[in-house]
Amino acid sequence: MTNKEFHQNIKRILISESEIKTKIKETGTQIGQDYAGKPLLLVSILNGAFVFMADLCRAIPIPCEIAFLCVKSYYSGTVSSGTVEMVMDLKQDISQYHVLIIEDIIDTGRTLHHILQLLKARNPLSLKVITLLDKPDRRVVDLKPDRSLFTIPDVFVVGYGLDCGEIYRNLPYIAEYENNKLE
Ligand code: IMP
Ligand code: MG
Repeated sequence: MTNKEFHQNIKRILISESEIKTKIKETGTQIGQDYAGKPLLLVSILNGAFVFMADLCRAIPIPCEIAFLCVKSYYSGTVSSGTVEMVMDLKQDISQYHVLIIEDIIDTGRTLHHILQLLKARNPLSLKVITLLDKPDRRVVDLKPDRSLFTIPDVFVVGYGLDCGEIYRNLPYIAEYENNKLE
């Protein structure tokens, strides 16, 4: 992709860097209060949630451990099939932890539903979900995050960890994506 195409496909900034920063600070403080004195394990879902995890963990003022889970969701066209493959599993025995899943976006809810089933079966002390973005209009599985930083309409977004064909993860804000072909 050329530099021109990269910028041409960004329709508008939906959530700015400073809006994200403010919400993350609030969320980190709240997590600090909710989990004070408890063994806390933050589990980030790769690849999309890596930026959110990096910023959120630094806003949490209490001791915690971090871990990563990598799954691949299969799509038929642009619609997820509901088939989720484990690419990299956790190394910890989570039965000793209060687990907080850190996700980038909940769309149909299928990926997270699968991960929740999997982790519940391992008997963590508690299991909750924080997502940066929620697209409730797209849900096909009945699933609500315990906390969502931003609710967005049914538009395709990129940036702050989220990609389109593995590009755009490095944008520092959330942008609405539009495929503009160059003349
Ligand atoms: P779900 O199983 O449909 O909830 O899929 C969630 C996954 O789809 C997310 O973790 C993202 O990787 C991807 N996804 C869903 N919506 C978007 C979007 O607007 N931009 C980029 N990735 C998205
Ligand atoms: Mg994801």
